[in-house]
Amino acid sequence: MNTPPPPVESVARAQALAAEIERHNELYYVHGRPEISDRDFDRLLEELIALENQYPVLRTATSPTQRVGGRPVDGFEQVAHDPPMLSLDNTYSEDELADWVARLSRFAPGLALSYVAELKVDGVSIALRYENGVLTRAVTRGNGQLGDDVTANVRTIRRLPLRLAGAPPELLLRGEIYMPRGVFDQLNRDREEQGEALYANPRNTTAGTIRLLDSREVARRRLEIAVYQSVSDIGASSHSGAFEQLTAWGLPVLSTWERCADLAALRRYLDHWRERRRQLDFETDGVVIKVDSYAAQRELGTTGKAPRWAVAFKYAAEQAITRVRDIVVQVGRTGVLTPVAELEPVQLAGTVVKRATLHNYEDLSRKDVRVGDSVYLEKGGEIIPKVVAVQLELRPADSVPFEKPANCPVCGEKLTRFAGEVALRCTNVGCPAIAAQAVAHFSSRSAMNIEGLGDKLIEQLQKKGLLRDYTSLYELRLEDLRDLEGWGEKSAQNLLAQISGSRERELSHLLFAIGIRFVGERVARLLAEHFGELDILAAASTEELQKIPEIGPKVAESVVAFFADDNNRTRLESLRRHGVSFQQKQRRQVVQEGPFAGKKVVLTGTLSQLTRDAATQKLEAAGAKIVGSVSKQTDLVIAGEAAGSKLDKARLLGVEVIDEATFLARLGEG
Ligand code: IVH
Repeated sequence: MNTPPPPVESVARAQALAAEIERHNELYYVHGRPEISDRDFDRLLEELIALENQYPVLRTATSPTQRVGGRPVDGFEQVAHDPPMLSLDNTYSEDELADWVARLSRFAPGLALSYVAELKVDGVSIALRYENGVLTRAVTRGNGQLGDDVTANVRTIRRLPLRLAGAPPELLLRGEIYMPRGVFDQLNRDREEQGEALYANPRNTTAGTIRLLDSREVARRRLEIAVYQSVSDIGASSHSGAFEQLTAWGLPVLSTWERCADLAALRRYLDHWRERRRQLDFETDGVVIKVDSYAAQRELGTTGKAPRWAVAFKYAAEQAITRVRDIVVQVGRTGVLTPVAELEPVQLAGTVVKRATLHNYEDLSRKDVRVGDSVYLEKGGEIIPKVVAVQLELRPADSVPFEKPANCPVCGEKLTRFAGEVALRCTNVGCPAIAAQAVAHFSSRSAMNIEGLGDKLIEQLQKKGLLRDYTSLYELRLEDLRDLEGWGEKSAQNLLAQISGSRERELSHLLFAIGIRFVGERVARLLAEHFGELDILAAASTEELQKIPEIGPKVAESVVAFFADDNNRTRLESLRRHGVSFQQKQRRQVVQEGPFAGKKVVLTGTLSQLTRDAATQKLEAAGAKIVGSVSKQTDLVIAGEAAGSKLDKARLLGVEVIDEATFLARLGEG
């Protein structure tokens, strides 16, 4: 029987949905930066599936319903998944779960099914390969077919054994990498102290971390992993049997899984973890339920996108509804304006929420949040709750749209929007809001490390007209401080001693403290160690700056512009007059000569004489900079056995390629 051709609106809707889903797919999988909740994403996908079921001609080969995930990113070697990494169908209520269980019995009437329930870790999926008991490869999910080889990064996860005793010659596992809440919170505390933008949630931070090119930085982030599936035959006849075996080998299997005989047992598991999951040191957004017997799993098979024998149960995201009392604007250190909703306090996921970020004016006007509105708040993994939507039925009749400001709410300066940015900025160097943030940054631990200079004191000093900018700190006198409310002789003396001590800080700290755009702690150290003195750095051209490995045109231009600016020069002269040191005393020896000095080198393939780590260390000691991907800027590619796409690319770009023997010979170790 022929189905009638789809009406033109359905064709258009299917196309629009496909494009929208692809966009969100890419935001989620490629950029680790989703804009909508999983649930909203699933709704879009469900709508498209329904349309395609109604009009099968709409189900094209490129429809997002036909494949899983998005596109892998550049920078790592790409590896095919065999078998592909599937995703899971979702259920959102116990009724939907009951339907799933009923469907399974209809599909396979002869099977007496039992299940395993386990927590769904909200992280980043990974495929692991052990060969002869040795961890040889870890590949991100990518688009499910092809992922990135992030083995070096995954090896930094301490909980994951690099060797296994008793495992079969080839062992393929799947698991989830995550960042424990404690690690995430600490990371954000450090960033806050340094005036850096905070990470949104552990999941996105994990996604970003696992794709870092520098595995040493990954190691510092202390990621964790949970193995949730064996793809290889390990002699078990069921998933629970496999879990026992994997655990016995020392693999990180979460101990929270349980065998469940039937739907009632599954419900008990869901109830058990609904609230308790918040006490765990990782984020979970639900439970994964799998048919236990492998024979039954084989019988049930997959639908292409997901296995029929498993399903994810998602707990309802915690939402609250409250009223917006006011919309205020925060001005940050770099002048960026952030609108913030002040709320009637409301209980949400265990805390009382009074404020929620509205991100930027574009986001605010898209959601059309107004003062007086009732809004839905959500707190997923995020620390800062966000306004998800306005409940329009409750909008007061006299409400007016929030107007984007034209001027800085603090100093009145006309606002600027830089090309390619959504943010509005105040660019007034004298703006008190920016000055307050800049002074806080200047005195933070990684900068000039002036203890005791909190936000409250900065505000008090500003009110008294004693703090124009950070140079004013060195002009403060005992009598200015001791008469402030809440201050005395002793505390004033302590602070003055702290300020005085900061004169001796290294140039690397000073460079970070003065807030040059794109100059974070690491770049500040590179600059300080290279130039040794502020005056020499201040006279450097963009060309000279770019001779330092790792300094590109963006940073170089920003540094030159900073020292060309009259305001900045005046401030630096003032610091000099107050005796602030412009010197870097501790300078690491930079290797200036030799075959690898200053070279950007890519290591690819497997080396036989050295581990990758050892090769990296030797190269760095010889002054090379190891980079992850081949580009025109690459000076040299060292290719071991079975080198793949990076070698091809190097040949294509005409980059010099050498083998391991030549590499060792050049090191003088051949
Ligand atoms: S099983 C073929 N078990 O959730 C079945 N997945 O939404 C593969 N996940 O891509 C998945 N915890 O990255 C399974 N205990 C668990 C899990 C889990 C987290 C992730 C996994 C998968 C995604 C699907």
